[in-house]
Amino acid sequence: MSYKVSKTIKGEKIEFKNPSAAFYEALGEDGMRKLMYDFYDRIYESDIANFFPQDLQEFEKIKKKNTNFFIQICGGPKVYEDESRGMELNEYMVRLHDDFSIYEKSRLEWLGCMRQSLEQVDIDQELKDDFWNYVEKFSKFTVNSFADGGKFYANL
Ligand code: HEM
Repeated sequence: MSYKVSKTIKGEKIEFKNPSAAFYEALGEDGMRKLMYDFYDRIYESDIANFFPQDLQEFEKIKKKNTNFFIQICGGPKVYEDESRGMELNEYMVRLHDDFSIYEKSRLEWLGCMRQSLEQVDIDQELKDDFWNYVEKFSKFTVNSFADGGKFYANL
């Protein structure tokens, strides 16, 4: 079964692995850009749109940075690394989200947008499943606010 989601449990160790380079190779740089732009267009219309700049020029910058991050994390050219100022890429990405109060509900909305975008893409389901496993697990690190009112910042 594809697109499974498991719940984020406060303090639980999160195991993840970066997506396979085959995902990026199958999509190519243009395909990756299309996927990420489609994803962010969905985010802009979603219940978590309020987290992001509403100004379209500012939003465009996020789309570009986000695309570069995903190209790099999928084993493509190192087009994002200058942003992370020497920090390991995934570590930097988790800490960047600390500034926002992200609940499980926001993660589910984010994953829902990602699922819809992936469903539009015509490559092997196996490759999409591998990418999904990365975002499904990694997104747990971005959840830092819990229904019990507590905050918890997960470490890699
Ligand atoms: C697999 C999980 C995720 C990954 C890999 C990811 C990746 C990214 C990337 C690459 C950026 C742009 C960073 C930059 O400015 O250079 C970003 C920004 C951001 N992400 Fe995520 N993200 C994830 C999950 C989430 C979730 C679940 C939320 C929930 C609300 C979220 C909210 C945000 C926000 C608010 C920003 C900043 C927008 C701004 O700069 O104004 N992210 N994320």
